[in-house]
Amino acid sequence: MADKKAILTVPGLDENIELPIYSGTVGPDVVDVRGLTSKGLFTYDPGFVSTAACESAITYIDGGKGVLLHRGYPIEQLAKHSHYLELCYLLLNGELPTPEEEEKFENTITHHTMVHEQLLQFYKGFRRDAHPMAILCGVVGALSAFYHDSLDINNPRDREVSAFRLIAKMPTMAAMCYKYSVGQPFIYPKNDLNYAENFLHMMFSTPCGDYQPNPVLSKAMDRIFMLHADHEQNASTSTVRLTGSTGANPFACIAAGIAALWGPSHGGANEAVLTMLDEIGEDSEENIQHFISRAKDKNDPFRLMGFGHRVYRNFDPRAKVMKETCDEVLKELGLENDPQLHIAKRLEEIALSDEYFIERQLYPNVDFYSGIILKAIGIPTNMFTVIFALSRTVGWISHWKEMVSGDNKIGRPRQLYTGHDVRDYPAK
Ligand code: CMC
Repeated sequence: MADKKAILTVPGLDENIELPIYSGTVGPDVVDVRGLTSKGLFTYDPGFVSTAACESAITYIDGGKGVLLHRGYPIEQLAKHSHYLELCYLLLNGELPTPEEEEKFENTITHHTMVHEQLLQFYKGFRRDAHPMAILCGVVGALSAFYHDSLDINNPRDREVSAFRLIAKMPTMAAMCYKYSVGQPFIYPKNDLNYAENFLHMMFSTPCGDYQPNPVLSKAMDRIFMLHADHEQNASTSTVRLTGSTGANPFACIAAGIAALWGPSHGGANEAVLTMLDEIGEDSEENIQHFISRAKDKNDPFRLMGFGHRVYRNFDPRAKVMKETCDEVLKELGLENDPQLHIAKRLEEIALSDEYFIERQLYPNVDFYSGIILKAIGIPTNMFTVIFALSRTVGWISHWKEMVSGDNKIGRPRQLYTGHDVRDYPAK
């Protein structure tokens, strides 16, 4: 399999160690270090900066060139010509659906959108002011207590049904988090609406009146779902894989992914962008410059939220598409002159021309614009990460399926131990 080898010389070892090198379709080669354990060595890579933890055929990112491919298709083309459910099919199955396959898939998802009525009781156990991510984490984990009939991870049909259930029910469960927090009744899904329209309907309709989905806003919602659908081995996806590697059921794995996504360095950033804009407050040049200086000050923990990315060092291709959608939504809603949005645009301008950000290759990322769009649509800030989780569920479940269907080994990292050596318990 490997026709190239790396040679490692280790002080104290008599012979060099030969490590096979593998090439993927595109992207950096990987050095197979598995043989090191037998030589009494581990590799050391905190933060997994240089570690390929698995083989995958789902998504490819070239951070230097700003490329994002799903099953080979560039995100810009998918965003322009496809829609979220088609992308879900592609991520799960590897190929675009035929028209018949697409109709069948969409029909299946549409007919799995209701949740077990008993699940409503779970929501009622939470405080009304609970963070919706806390609720989502809990209810998604609880799904495994309701859908026993699709929990055999070794059965391909069970894996498929769990994937359908998760993709179909996430918008329902996400909207229920919101309805619960504002004290309104839960709204059931409607089968004549598409995925994005249905989500907006469940968020904003009440028993007194149906929300009429605005096509520009529904399209924007669908784009947000698409642009967050998958991002290869990020922290939450790696969490889902690690959890799944133990044989845990898919609902438990996705709940683990939701927990990992919640952090402000990951999915929580879209919420943090709006919190930052609130903190900046007044739309004045002096004020904005003050926060830019704080972001550059090494002694201040403040960071410009929505800027920078571990992998993208040129630009985030999702942010480019999101910016277009952002402009469309603001125009449709007549919000071009909103003071908070003006602050956001000014921050972007300054950051793109300031040496500090240029040198460190810090560009606006997807969450910078998605937060602005979601706010304009009327979605409360604390729901932003929930929407990220809803969108990413297909990515998580596709990676889980890929891993469980293949040659799966339990994930078990090693460590560089720096604690005490063995010592005796003191005599008493
Ligand atoms: N504002 C100010 N300085 C920053 C920022 C920022 N947003 N991001 C990075 N830096 C600086 C950082 O201080 C460091 O400077 P120096 O080299 O002088 O010490 C340098 O840039 C490199 O930063 P890093 O922390 O080593 O980079 P990383 O790859 O570990 O972190 C990141 C990536 C996304 C966590 C970070 O850029 C960040 O905290 N950004 C803000 C949060 C955010 O928007 N996250 C969403 C990411 S996109 C959604 C997703 O995929 O989850």
